[in-house]
Amino acid sequence: MTDAPQKTFTLTNDQTGESTKLPILDGNDGPSVIDVRRLYGQLGHFTYDPGFRATGSCDSALTYIDGEQGILLHRGYAIEDLAARSDYMEVCYLLLHGELPTGDQKTLFESTITHHTMVHDQINNFFRGFRRDAHPMAIMCGVVGALSAFYHDHTDVNSAEDRLISAHRLIAKMPTIAAMAYKYSCGQPFMYPRNDLGYAANFLHMTFGVPAESSEPDPILARAMDKIFILHADHEQNASTSTVRIAGSSGANPYAVIAAGIASLWGPAHGGANEAVLSMLDEIGDKSRINEFVKKAKDPDDSFRLMGFGHRVYKNFDPRAKIMKETADEVLDLMGMSDPRLELARELERIALEDDYFVQRKLYPNVDFYSGIILKAMGFPTEMFTVLFAMARTVGWISQWKEMMENPDGIFRPRQLYTGHKHRPFVDLPKR
Ligand code: ACO
Repeated sequence: MTDAPQKTFTLTNDQTGESTKLPILDGNDGPSVIDVRRLYGQLGHFTYDPGFRATGSCDSALTYIDGEQGILLHRGYAIEDLAARSDYMEVCYLLLHGELPTGDQKTLFESTITHHTMVHDQINNFFRGFRRDAHPMAIMCGVVGALSAFYHDHTDVNSAEDRLISAHRLIAKMPTIAAMAYKYSCGQPFMYPRNDLGYAANFLHMTFGVPAESSEPDPILARAMDKIFILHADHEQNASTSTVRIAGSSGANPYAVIAAGIASLWGPAHGGANEAVLSMLDEIGDKSRINEFVKKAKDPDDSFRLMGFGHRVYKNFDPRAKIMKETADEVLDLMGMSDPRLELARELERIALEDDYFVQRKLYPNVDFYSGIILKAMGFPTEMFTVLFAMARTVGWISQWKEMMENPDGIFRPRQLYTGHKHRPFVDLPKR
C-alpha cells in the first residue's frame, strides 16, 4: 500500500453543498479503499457500517481472499499448493515470518516448537476444576487465557523477542491443551507430548494414545490431520481474527488475546459451524428428507440455515471446501469406512447447488461442510471439532496480532449511531 495517494474520492453533502476529497488507497490486489480517517474532522460525520460489510479495519500482508473467484493466498501462495506440497509447520513459519523457510530454518523452527510442547505441571490442576462434561471450547477459553499466569516471563507486548516467544509457545502448547481437554472428558490420563513425532502425529498420539500401550499414529492420518490444520491456518479479517486484533489493540497479553479469539470462534456462524453441520446431517437422517430441510432453509420466517453453506466473503466455491471434500474421501477410504453422512452431504450439496435460492445468493459449501465428516471418521467427538479449528487457527491469530503490534495504530475504538434517549431528567424512586 502506498502512503502518498494519487487518487481521491469527492464526497459532497447534498444538504449543505460542503464537500471533501478523501484519499483512495490501493492495495497490492483486491478493491481499493476510501480512506475516511479524517472524515469526522472535515465534515463532522462518522461512517456507518455495522457488521463491517464494506469496511477495511487494517492493512495486512498475510492473507488475500478473492471471494468472487474463490482464491485464497497466504503470503502470495495458493492454498491448493500449500495443502498439496507443504506442511503445517512450513505454513506456520510462512505466516509468522513472511517467507517459506529454507531447510535449516525449518529444522530450527520445528525444534523450537517441539521445545515448547509441554505445559506447566500446575496446569493439570486447572483441568480438574472443570466438570467432566464441560464443553472443550469452554476449557480452551479458560486454560489458554490462564497461560499468561504461567508464562509471564515473556509477555512484554512491546518486545519483538517476547512476542515471538509467545507465538512459539502458543503454537506448541495448543495441541497439548486440546488433547488434555479431550482426555479429561473421557476420564483417561493426560498423555505427554512426544517430541520425536511431527506436529500432527504428536497431536494424534496425545489424543488417542494411552499410557498402557505403545502405538504409532498412522502416517496417512497424520498427513490428513496436517492438511486440515493447513486449511484452517488463517483467513484474513474474519470475526475471531478481528476479535484478536481488537483485544490486542489495548495492549493485552497474547494469551488473553488468543482466548478472546477462541471465544469468538465458538459461535455456530463461525467455527462452531462444523459441529452444527454434523448435528444437521444427523437431524436430516435420510436423503428422502433433504427437500424438507432445504425448504426450511429457504423460508424467511424460519431461522434454520443450511449449516456449512454460505460465506461472508466467498461468493464462489470456498477453495478449502474442495480440498476438504477430497480429503474426506481419502480418510474414509483409509479407515475402510462408509459414513452415510458423507452420502447425505454430497446429495444435499447437489440439490442446494441446483436450487435457485442458493444459486442467486451465491451460497456454496464452506470449509466446514465436509470437515466434520473427516474428523468424525478419525474418531474425534463432535465437541472437539471447533477445538481443532482453534488449534489450527492459533498461528493465524498470533501472526495477525504480531503484524499489528509491529506497526501499532492505537486502540480500536469504533463509533456508533446513537438510537437511545436524549438527555432526560432523573426521577427519584418514589416518584416512578
Ligand atoms: N442457509 C440458508 N440461507 C442462507 C444461508 C444458509 N446457510 N447463508 C445465507 N443465507 C441467506 C440469508 O438468509 C440471506 O437471504 P436474504 O437475502 O433473502 O435475506 C442471504 O443468504 C445473505 O445472507 P447473510 O446472512 O447476509 O450473509 P452473511 O455474509 O452475513 O453470512 C454466514 C455469512 C454467517 C456464514 C451465513 O452464510 C451462515 O449463517 N451460514 C451458515 C453457518 C456457517 O456455515 N458458518 C461457517 C462460515 S465459514 C467459517 O466461519 C469458517
